[in-house]
Amino acid sequence: MYHLVYVSSATVLFGESDLMALLAQSRGKNAGLGITGMLLYKEGNFMQALEGERGAVLGLMDTIQADPRHHGVIIVEQDESPRRQFGDWSMGFRNLDDPALQTTPGYSPFLNSPFTGEVFTGDEGRCWELLNLFRDTM
Ligand SMILES: Cc1cc2nc3c(=O)[nH]c(=O)nc-3n(C[C@H](O)[C@H](O)[C@H](O)COP(=O)(O)O)c2cc1C
Repeated sequence: MYHLVYVSSATVLFGESDLMALLAQSRGKNAGLGITGMLLYKEGNFMQALEGERGAVLGLMDTIQADPRHHGVIIVEQDESPRRQFGDWSMGFRNLDDPALQTTPGYSPFLNSPFTGEVFTGDEGRCWELLNLFRDTM
């Protein structure tokens, strides 16, 4: 098992329907590739965790990296892992701009952190804290 976490910035405005279309496309393809993970969206930036067989994860990452809908992709962490963290989701998703999520327990220290390399590079523990927080409330 292999996992990878990156942050990136949208190049186009993603409304709720654009996010849902992206998810529908992703979930279908990920299921076929045996990939699971989590996508978070906040103020025009993405954080995504992908996990699965190494070749599948890296191959999909090449495709995602080339997607013109975002840019500035920064891989925060990638490594072998003993087991899946997001096994229940071909792609879990949270739009953190949703006001209802602002009061999620444990989220307050992240409220003012944009999903940028500046904030998360070299601090993958913080990335995982955030991903797990929303995984555990899905
Ligand atoms: C932020 C972001 C996350 C994405 N996540 C996935 C994903 O998890 N799985 C996926 O198949 N495509 C994902 N995509 C879409 C891919 O870039 C690509 O459009 C899609 O896989 C279709 O590829 P194809 O040309 O091979 O059909 C994502 C795109 C963006 C912008």
